[in-house]
Amino acid sequence: MSAQASPELPDSIPQHIAIVMDGNGRWAQSRGLPRLAGHRAGTENLRSIIEACVEFGVKVLTIYAFSTENWSRPENEVSGLMAIFDEVFNRELAELNRQGAQLRHIGRLDGIKKSLQDKVRRGIEKTKNNDRLILNVAFNYGGRDEIVHAIRTMLKEGVDPADVNEQLVSQYLYTKDVPDPDLIIRTSGEHRFSNFLIWQAAYAEWVFPETFWPDFGREELLAAIQEYGHRERRYGRVLEKG
Ligand code: IPE
Ligand code: IPE
Ligand code: MG
Repeated sequence: MSAQASPELPDSIPQHIAIVMDGNGRWAQSRGLPRLAGHRAGTENLRSIIEACVEFGVKVLTIYAFSTENWSRPENEVSGLMAIFDEVFNRELAELNRQGAQLRHIGRLDGIKKSLQDKVRRGIEKTKNNDRLILNVAFNYGGRDEIVHAIRTMLKEGVDPADVNEQLVSQYLYTKDVPDPDLIIRTSGEHRFSNFLIWQAAYAEWVFPETFWPDFGREELLAAIQEYGHRERRYGRVLEKG
């Protein structure tokens, strides 16, 4: 279905949606299940979210899967999460390809298990010519880490301080090839950045649904896009009213 075919969509569709997929642990806890069951459930809805982004005409979807701070969770949760990512990869790559989605990664691949690194690299290679949706997975990602990495690279390359401006900094970030997010959704009722896209979010519109991530589906995504459609993006200006 093309974007025009859905009468529920507002006139302005966010080109880039970013999601802090939060609330897996509380979803599990509320059902008397272990936290890892929540993480597993939080991968089941991903397929319908990706499908809905393609349906709505969204061009870039960035999902926060694992932060640089999440390494400080208990060892069994971290290793369980890594095993789940591995499974999701095996299960979803063909479907991603079928949807015409191009897989990308932002963050540090070097911090993770070699076999998973290789899978991610192969997935990126396999989907590189797909052009319906860019799926950016923020995995072992931290916004501050990204800025430190950018500064280091600029210094190593001997960039002239006189050439440093906002555009140049953006070009040194992991997100250099995609526009800044228009809409950022954080599920589960938490209202904070938690180190996500701290540079790129300067003028994003934020939406904070109460829903825990595993219960977030097409309808919740549509509601967030509709809320975005009512926002007035001013970028610091005063808008003249007709
Ligand atoms: C988000 O869910 C998933 C990851 C951080 C990997 P949480 O695990 O943070 O769930 P809550 O916030 O404890 O409910
Ligand atoms: C942010 O959620 C990271 C991801 C969703 C991957 P957290 O649950 O880790 O963030 P805090 O600890 O509540 O700030
Ligand atoms: Mg959380």
